[in-house]
Amino acid sequence: MDEHVRFGGVVPEIAARAHLEAFTPVVREALDRAGLRPADVGAVAVTTGPGLSGALQVGLAGAKTLAHSLGVPLYGVHHLAGHVAADTLEHGPLPDPCVVLIVSGGHTSLLLVRDLARDPVVHLGDTLDDAAGECFDKAARLFGLPYPGGPAIDRAAREGDPGAVAFPRPLTGPRDDPYAFSFSGLKTAAARWAERYRAKGEQPPLADGAASLQEAVADVLTRKAVAACREHGVGTLVVVGGVAANSRVRALAEERCRAAGIALRVPPLRLCTDNGAMIAAVGDLLVRAGAAPAPLDLSADPSAPLEYAALHPVGRAAPALV
Ligand code: KG4
Ligand code: ZN
Repeated sequence: MDEHVRFGGVVPEIAARAHLEAFTPVVREALDRAGLRPADVGAVAVTTGPGLSGALQVGLAGAKTLAHSLGVPLYGVHHLAGHVAADTLEHGPLPDPCVVLIVSGGHTSLLLVRDLARDPVVHLGDTLDDAAGECFDKAARLFGLPYPGGPAIDRAAREGDPGAVAFPRPLTGPRDDPYAFSFSGLKTAAARWAERYRAKGEQPPLADGAASLQEAVADVLTRKAVAACREHGVGTLVVVGGVAANSRVRALAEERCRAAGIALRVPPLRLCTDNGAMIAAVGDLLVRAGAAPAPLDLSADPSAPLEYAALHPVGRAAPALV
Protein backbone atom coordinates (compact mmCIF):
# COMPACT_ATOMS: atom_id res chain seq x y z
CA MET A 1 0.00 0.00 0.00
CA ASP A 2 2.69 2.46 1.03
CA GLU A 3 4.16 2.93 -2.44
CA HIS A 4 0.68 3.96 -3.60
CA VAL A 5 0.41 6.66 -0.97
CA ARG A 6 1.47 9.68 -2.95
CA PHE A 7 0.34 13.26 -3.40
CA GLY A 8 0.20 14.08 0.30
CA GLY A 9 -1.44 10.84 1.36
CA VAL A 10 -4.01 10.61 -1.44
CA VAL A 11 -4.18 7.49 -3.63
CA PRO A 12 -5.00 8.81 -7.14
CA GLU A 13 -7.28 5.91 -8.14
CA ILE A 14 -9.28 6.18 -4.94
CA ALA A 15 -9.54 9.96 -5.31
CA ALA A 16 -10.94 9.58 -8.85
CA ARG A 17 -13.51 7.01 -7.71
CA ALA A 18 -14.53 9.22 -4.79
CA HIS A 19 -15.08 12.10 -7.23
CA LEU A 20 -17.27 9.89 -9.40
CA GLU A 21 -19.39 8.79 -6.45
CA ALA A 22 -19.68 12.32 -5.05
CA PHE A 23 -20.47 14.20 -8.26
CA THR A 24 -24.25 13.81 -8.48
CA PRO A 25 -25.02 14.04 -4.73
CA VAL A 26 -22.80 17.13 -4.37
CA VAL A 27 -24.39 18.95 -7.32
CA ARG A 28 -27.85 18.04 -6.02
CA GLU A 29 -27.07 19.21 -2.49
CA ALA A 30 -25.51 22.47 -3.71
CA LEU A 31 -28.64 23.27 -5.71
CA ASP A 32 -30.89 22.29 -2.79
CA ARG A 33 -29.01 24.44 -0.30
CA ALA A 34 -29.08 27.39 -2.73
CA GLY A 35 -32.81 26.86 -3.30
CA LEU A 36 -32.25 26.52 -7.06
CA ARG A 37 -33.45 24.15 -9.77
CA PRO A 38 -31.09 22.89 -12.50
CA ALA A 39 -32.87 25.19 -14.99
CA ASP A 40 -31.74 28.21 -12.91
CA VAL A 41 -28.05 27.50 -13.65
CA GLY A 42 -26.66 30.00 -16.15
CA ALA A 43 -23.16 28.57 -16.69
CA VAL A 44 -20.94 25.76 -15.42
CA ALA A 45 -17.34 26.29 -14.30
CA VAL A 46 -15.01 23.35 -13.70
CA THR A 47 -11.41 22.93 -12.53
CA THR A 48 -9.33 21.69 -15.45
CA GLY A 49 -5.97 21.90 -13.67
CA PRO A 50 -3.70 21.57 -11.89
CA GLY A 51 -4.48 18.42 -9.88
CA LEU A 52 -4.67 14.65 -10.00
CA SER A 53 -5.42 13.61 -13.56
CA GLY A 54 -8.13 11.05 -12.74
CA ALA A 55 -10.00 13.40 -10.43
CA LEU A 56 -9.81 16.24 -12.98
CA GLN A 57 -11.13 13.94 -15.75
CA VAL A 58 -14.12 12.91 -13.66
CA GLY A 59 -15.01 16.51 -12.82
CA LEU A 60 -14.55 17.64 -16.40
CA ALA A 61 -16.69 14.84 -17.88
CA GLY A 62 -19.43 15.56 -15.34
CA ALA A 63 -19.30 19.31 -15.95
CA LYS A 64 -19.44 18.87 -19.73
CA THR A 65 -22.47 16.61 -19.39
CA LEU A 66 -24.18 19.06 -17.05
CA ALA A 67 -23.49 22.10 -19.24
CA HIS A 68 -24.53 20.27 -22.41
CA SER A 69 -27.76 18.91 -20.94
CA LEU A 70 -28.72 22.32 -19.50
CA GLY A 71 -27.71 24.13 -22.69
CA VAL A 72 -25.43 26.57 -20.82
CA PRO A 73 -21.81 27.64 -21.43
CA LEU A 74 -18.88 25.83 -19.83
CA TYR A 75 -15.71 27.47 -18.45
CA GLY A 76 -12.47 25.64 -17.62
CA VAL A 77 -10.84 27.21 -14.58
CA HIS A 78 -7.38 27.14 -12.98
CA HIS A 79 -7.57 25.75 -9.45
CA LEU A 80 -5.37 28.50 -8.01
CA ALA A 81 -7.41 31.26 -9.67
CA GLY A 82 -10.28 29.71 -7.71
CA HIS A 83 -8.41 30.27 -4.46
CA VAL A 84 -7.90 33.93 -5.41
CA ALA A 85 -11.54 34.41 -6.41
CA ALA A 86 -12.73 32.78 -3.15
CA ASP A 87 -12.07 36.06 -1.39
CA THR A 88 -14.52 37.92 -3.65
CA LEU A 89 -17.34 35.78 -2.24
CA GLU A 90 -16.82 37.36 1.16
CA HIS A 91 -15.25 40.76 0.45
CA GLY A 92 -16.48 41.74 -3.02
CA PRO A 93 -14.45 42.56 -6.15
CA LEU A 94 -10.66 42.55 -5.83
CA PRO A 95 -8.92 45.92 -6.13
CA ASP A 96 -6.79 46.34 -9.25
CA PRO A 97 -3.92 45.82 -8.67
CA CYS A 98 -3.42 43.62 -5.61
CA VAL A 99 -0.65 41.37 -4.38
CA VAL A 100 -1.83 37.82 -3.70
CA LEU A 101 0.01 35.38 -1.47
CA ILE A 102 -1.25 31.95 -2.46
CA VAL A 103 -0.29 29.21 -0.02
CA SER A 104 -1.67 25.71 -0.46
CA GLY A 105 -0.61 22.08 -0.20
CA GLY A 106 0.95 22.11 -3.66
CA HIS A 107 1.79 25.75 -4.37
CA THR A 108 3.33 28.81 -2.76
CA SER A 109 3.50 31.97 -4.87
CA LEU A 110 3.46 35.74 -4.63
CA LEU A 111 1.36 37.15 -7.47
CA LEU A 112 0.57 40.55 -8.88
CA VAL A 113 -3.08 40.39 -9.92
CA ARG A 114 -4.88 42.99 -12.00
CA ASP A 115 -8.22 41.96 -13.52
CA LEU A 116 -8.39 38.26 -12.72
CA ALA A 117 -10.84 37.48 -15.52
CA ARG A 118 -8.95 39.32 -18.27
CA ASP A 119 -5.31 39.95 -17.43
CA PRO A 120 -2.38 37.56 -17.10
CA VAL A 121 -1.29 36.83 -13.55
CA VAL A 122 2.27 38.04 -12.88
CA HIS A 123 4.38 35.73 -10.70
CA LEU A 124 6.63 37.83 -8.46
CA GLY A 125 8.02 34.69 -6.88
CA ASP A 126 7.33 30.99 -6.34
CA THR A 127 8.65 28.24 -4.14
CA LEU A 128 11.82 26.61 -5.38
CA ASP A 129 10.94 23.28 -3.75
CA ASP A 130 8.16 22.37 -1.28
CA ALA A 131 4.97 24.37 -0.80
CA ALA A 132 4.22 25.82 2.65
CA GLY A 133 1.33 23.37 3.18
CA GLU A 134 3.55 20.49 2.13
CA CYS A 135 6.09 21.58 4.76
CA PHE A 136 3.38 21.45 7.44
CA ASP A 137 2.10 18.09 6.15
CA LYS A 138 5.57 16.50 6.10
CA ALA A 139 6.62 17.96 9.45
CA ALA A 140 3.36 16.76 11.04
CA ARG A 141 4.10 13.27 9.80
CA LEU A 142 7.58 13.43 11.36
CA PHE A 143 6.01 14.64 14.62
CA GLY A 144 3.48 11.77 14.53
CA LEU A 145 0.53 14.15 14.01
CA PRO A 146 -2.43 13.30 11.72
CA TYR A 147 -2.93 14.30 8.04
CA PRO A 148 -3.56 16.99 6.88
CA GLY A 149 -0.68 18.33 8.91
CA GLY A 150 -1.46 22.05 8.76
CA PRO A 151 -4.51 22.03 11.03
CA ALA A 152 -2.78 19.52 13.36
CA ILE A 153 0.32 21.75 13.69
CA ASP A 154 -1.92 24.78 14.21
CA ARG A 155 -3.75 22.99 17.06
CA ALA A 156 -0.56 21.60 18.67
CA ALA A 157 1.08 25.05 18.47
CA ARG A 158 -1.55 26.61 20.76
CA GLU A 159 0.19 25.18 23.84
CA GLY A 160 3.72 25.85 22.58
CA ASP A 161 6.36 28.59 22.67
CA PRO A 162 7.02 30.00 19.16
CA GLY A 163 10.50 31.10 20.28
CA ALA A 164 11.51 27.70 21.72
CA VAL A 165 13.31 26.42 18.60
CA ALA A 166 15.35 28.70 16.32
CA PHE A 167 14.21 27.25 12.99
CA PRO A 168 15.77 28.89 9.91
CA ARG A 169 14.07 31.60 7.81
CA PRO A 170 14.96 30.36 4.30
CA LEU A 171 15.79 32.85 1.51
CA THR A 172 15.57 35.94 3.69
CA GLY A 173 19.19 37.03 3.33
CA PRO A 174 20.18 40.28 1.59
CA ARG A 175 21.39 38.46 -1.53
CA ASP A 176 18.41 36.07 -1.77
CA ASP A 177 15.57 36.47 -4.24
CA PRO A 178 13.16 38.66 -2.21
CA TYR A 179 10.02 36.85 -3.39
CA ALA A 180 11.17 33.23 -3.85
CA PHE A 181 10.39 30.66 -1.17
CA SER A 182 12.03 27.42 -0.04
CA PHE A 183 10.52 25.13 2.57
CA SER A 184 12.30 21.81 2.15
CA GLY A 185 15.18 22.88 4.44
CA LEU A 186 12.69 23.79 7.15
CA LYS A 187 11.20 20.30 6.95
CA THR A 188 14.70 18.81 7.32
CA ALA A 189 15.40 21.10 10.30
CA ALA A 190 12.16 19.92 11.93
CA ALA A 191 13.16 16.28 11.34
CA ARG A 192 16.61 16.84 12.90
CA TRP A 193 15.10 18.61 15.88
CA ALA A 194 12.69 15.73 16.59
CA GLU A 195 15.45 13.16 16.02
CA ARG A 196 17.72 14.75 18.65
CA TYR A 197 15.14 13.94 21.34
CA ARG A 198 14.30 10.47 20.01
CA ALA A 199 17.98 9.51 19.91
CA LYS A 200 18.02 10.08 23.69
CA GLY A 201 14.86 8.00 24.09
CA GLU A 202 12.82 11.14 24.83
CA GLN A 203 9.59 12.45 23.30
CA PRO A 204 10.18 15.77 21.50
CA PRO A 205 8.19 18.66 23.04
CA LEU A 206 5.77 18.77 20.10
CA ALA A 207 3.86 21.89 21.08
CA ASP A 208 7.09 23.93 21.09
CA GLY A 209 8.24 22.33 17.82
CA ALA A 210 4.88 23.01 16.14
CA ALA A 211 4.69 26.61 17.42
CA SER A 212 8.26 27.36 16.34
CA LEU A 213 7.81 25.81 12.90
CA GLN A 214 4.55 27.69 12.39
CA GLU A 215 6.27 30.91 13.44
CA ALA A 216 9.09 30.37 10.92
CA VAL A 217 6.65 29.70 8.04
CA ALA A 218 4.36 32.61 8.98
CA ASP A 219 7.34 34.96 9.39
CA VAL A 220 8.81 34.18 5.95
CA LEU A 221 5.45 34.27 4.15
CA THR A 222 4.22 37.54 5.60
CA ARG A 223 7.60 39.30 5.50
CA LYS A 224 7.95 38.67 1.76
CA ALA A 225 4.31 39.45 1.00
CA VAL A 226 4.46 42.84 2.75
CA ALA A 227 7.78 43.64 1.04
CA ALA A 228 6.19 42.84 -2.35
CA CYS A 229 3.31 45.26 -1.65
CA ARG A 230 5.71 48.00 -0.53
CA GLU A 231 8.11 47.64 -3.45
CA HIS A 232 5.34 47.50 -6.05
CA GLY A 233 3.38 50.33 -4.46
CA VAL A 234 0.32 48.08 -4.00
CA GLY A 235 -2.13 48.90 -1.21
CA THR A 236 -3.87 45.54 -0.79
CA LEU A 237 -2.56 42.09 0.15
CA VAL A 238 -4.82 39.07 -0.35
CA VAL A 239 -3.81 35.82 1.40
CA VAL A 240 -5.51 32.68 0.06
CA GLY A 241 -5.20 28.88 -0.09
CA GLY A 242 -5.35 26.21 2.62
CA VAL A 243 -2.45 27.67 4.63
CA ALA A 244 -4.31 31.02 4.82
CA ALA A 245 -6.44 29.15 7.39
CA ASN A 246 -3.41 29.05 9.72
CA SER A 247 -4.02 31.13 12.83
CA ARG A 248 -0.46 32.48 13.06
CA VAL A 249 -0.25 33.30 9.34
CA ARG A 250 -3.50 35.27 9.69
CA ALA A 251 -2.43 37.07 12.89
CA LEU A 252 1.05 37.99 11.66
CA ALA A 253 -0.26 39.14 8.27
CA GLU A 254 -2.74 41.36 10.10
CA GLU A 255 -0.08 42.80 12.41
CA ARG A 256 2.43 43.51 9.63
CA CYS A 257 -0.11 44.89 7.17
CA ARG A 258 -1.48 47.23 9.82
CA ALA A 259 2.04 48.47 10.60
CA ALA A 260 2.76 49.01 6.88
CA GLY A 261 -0.60 50.70 6.12
CA ILE A 262 -1.62 47.89 3.76
CA ALA A 263 -5.21 46.64 3.54
CA LEU A 264 -5.35 42.89 4.22
CA ARG A 265 -7.97 40.54 2.80
CA VAL A 266 -8.16 36.91 3.91
CA PRO A 267 -11.20 34.72 3.17
CA PRO A 268 -13.08 33.17 6.09
CA LEU A 269 -11.75 29.73 7.09
CA ARG A 270 -14.35 27.74 5.15
CA LEU A 271 -13.30 29.44 1.89
CA CYS A 272 -9.52 29.04 2.41
CA THR A 273 -9.28 25.29 1.91
CA ASP A 274 -10.46 23.67 -1.35
CA ASN A 275 -14.13 24.20 -2.14
CA GLY A 276 -16.46 24.35 -5.13
CA ALA A 277 -17.73 27.88 -4.53
CA MET A 278 -14.30 29.31 -5.39
CA ILE A 279 -14.46 27.75 -8.87
CA ALA A 280 -17.99 29.10 -9.37
CA ALA A 281 -16.64 32.53 -8.34
CA VAL A 282 -14.13 32.43 -11.22
CA GLY A 283 -16.93 31.34 -13.58
CA ASP A 284 -18.96 34.34 -12.44
CA LEU A 285 -16.04 36.71 -13.12
CA LEU A 286 -15.52 35.19 -16.59
CA VAL A 287 -19.22 35.48 -17.50
CA ARG A 288 -19.28 39.11 -16.35
CA ALA A 289 -16.11 39.84 -18.38
CA GLY A 290 -17.79 38.46 -21.50
CA ALA A 291 -15.22 35.66 -21.84
CA ALA A 292 -15.82 33.08 -24.55
CA PRO A 293 -16.92 29.69 -23.17
CA ALA A 294 -14.72 26.61 -23.48
CA PRO A 295 -14.88 24.46 -26.61
CA LEU A 296 -16.44 21.00 -26.22
CA ASP A 297 -13.04 19.35 -26.57
CA LEU A 298 -11.76 21.16 -23.46
CA SER A 299 -9.22 18.89 -21.78
CA ALA A 300 -7.68 18.63 -18.32
CA ASP A 301 -4.11 19.80 -17.68
CA PRO A 302 -2.77 18.20 -14.46
CA SER A 303 0.26 20.52 -14.29
CA ALA A 304 -1.22 23.75 -15.67
CA PRO A 305 0.85 26.81 -14.71
CA LEU A 306 -1.12 29.80 -13.43
CA GLU A 307 -1.11 32.33 -16.27
CA TYR A 308 -4.78 33.11 -16.77
CA ALA A 309 -7.84 32.28 -14.68
CA ALA A 310 -9.41 30.41 -17.61
CA LEU A 311 -7.56 27.42 -19.03
CA HIS A 312 -8.82 27.93 -22.58
CA PRO A 313 -8.83 30.87 -25.00
CA VAL A 314 -11.50 33.35 -23.92
CA GLY A 315 -11.21 35.68 -26.89
CA ARG A 316 -11.31 39.44 -26.75
CA ALA A 317 -13.15 40.43 -23.61
CA ALA A 318 -16.39 42.31 -24.23
CA PRO A 319 -17.41 45.15 -21.90
CA ALA A 320 -18.61 43.92 -18.52
CA LEU A 321 -22.29 42.91 -18.43
CA VAL A 322 -22.93 44.31 -14.97
O1 KG4 B 1 -5.67 24.83 -0.77
P1 KG4 B 1 -5.77 23.51 -0.11
O2 KG4 B 1 -7.05 23.14 0.59
O3 KG4 B 1 -5.48 22.35 -1.12
C1 KG4 B 1 -4.53 22.49 -2.14
O4 KG4 B 1 -4.88 23.08 -3.17
O5 KG4 B 1 -3.39 22.04 -1.86
O6 KG4 B 1 -4.54 23.44 0.90
C2 KG4 B 1 -4.28 22.29 1.66
C3 KG4 B 1 -3.09 22.58 2.54
C4 KG4 B 1 -2.59 21.36 3.27
O7 KG4 B 1 -1.19 21.27 3.13
C5 KG4 B 1 -2.97 21.65 4.72
O8 KG4 B 1 -2.09 21.07 5.66
C6 KG4 B 1 -2.91 23.15 4.75
O9 KG4 B 1 -3.44 23.57 3.51
N1 KG4 B 1 -3.71 23.73 5.84
C7 KG4 B 1 -3.16 24.41 6.86
C8 KG4 B 1 -4.22 24.72 7.76
N2 KG4 B 1 -5.38 24.25 7.21
C9 KG4 B 1 -5.04 23.65 6.04
N3 KG4 B 1 -1.88 24.74 7.11
C10 KG4 B 1 -1.63 25.41 8.24
N4 KG4 B 1 -2.57 25.73 9.16
C11 KG4 B 1 -3.88 25.42 8.95
N5 KG4 B 1 -4.80 25.76 9.87
ZN1 ZN C 1 -6.33 24.25 -3.35
